Amino acid sequence: MADGGKSTMRLFVLMATLVLAACAPAPAANRADAAHGRRLATVMGCVSCHGERLDGHLFEENPAFALAYSSNLSRILPRWSDAQIAATLRTGRRRDGTALWFMPTFAQAPLTDADMRDLIAWLRTVKPTGTDHPGIVKGPQWAVALGHGFSDSAAQATRLAARAPLDAGGATATGRYLARIACAECHGPDLKGPKDPQPGDAPDLVVAAGYTPADFRRLLRTGEAAGGRQVGLMSQEARHRLHALTDAEIGAIHAYLSARAGH
Ligand code: HEC
Ligand code: HEC
Repeated sequence: MADGGKSTMRLFVLMATLVLAACAPAPAANRADAAHGRRLATVMGCVSCHGERLDGHLFEENPAFALAYSSNLSRILPRWSDAQIAATLRTGRRRDGTALWFMPTFAQAPLTDADMRDLIAWLRTVKPTGTDHPGIVKGPQWAVALGHGFSDSAAQATRLAARAPLDAGGATATGRYLARIACAECHGPDLKGPKDPQPGDAPDLVVAAGYTPADFRRLLRTGEAAGGRQVGLMSQEARHRLHALTDAEIGAIHAYLSARAGH
């Protein structure tokens, strides 16, 4: 009897320990951080392009070229597994193999597994809303654009993979990574801007080396460029997206871009 009581007690202690272990916070490295995922979704433009509630909207509104909606992710993603979402962001193809055309896959593919997990954790918190949108309606200029090198997101990512930004050494690796996922979409996969820049194009990010850390932080937080200037798309995107970078991340990007400019 006494022995039976003791072993019941031991079993209880064991159970309690197991329950406590299950409730105890997992080490930070293994726990998905949805708040960090929300910041990533802001900085990487998921929220700008798919909308605050991820319900999508008319995105490309040029009938001669195309009418295209950004997808209603709030309704689509609950039907997808985490692995399917990650694979789509890394490859630029849907789980059924169909191509995406306007997704900046080349700037999403470099996401680390940990950041991908946090991003998906936040996507999982978004409630289904709105309606599904029609597929792309292609206009006569679509074929012309294809002839000039326009391609689907997967082919674009494959083509641009060879143009990774300069590696300025391990001490600047974080800044380089952040620039790839936050700046490359417009400033180019190698951050060099277009070969033949026109007014309003995103320039080679060597310009960042001319910024003091404080001016650089002001640009990314408020959109105000050095000398108190409002620029075009950059000012707008700083207010919509880039403001969500932390001071430490902005510092890391500036340190990398300064080191890169010195090479
Ligand atoms: C520059 C605008 C843009 C950005 C930035 C963007 N998307 Fe998209 N995304 C689109 C458009 C437009 C589509 C519609 C399909 C296409 O590309 O033609 C789409 C499609 C998708 C699809 C496919 C859904 C389906 O089956 O139709 C997923 C998943 C997706 N986006 C997730 C994301 C996530 C997550 C992010 C942020 C990491 C993101 N997108 C950033 C524009 C964007
Ligand atoms: C959505 C597109 C887009 C993204 C994303 C983007 N930029 Fe820009 N950026 C531009 C454009 C376009 C310009 C040229 C000025 C203009 O027309 O706004 C520019 C200009 C700049 C300039 C020069 C400003 C000046 O002094 O005239 C700096 C510095 C800069 N960007 C840094 C960054 C950094 C750093 C990131 C990533 C953290 C980034 N940008 C992300 C589009 C973008």
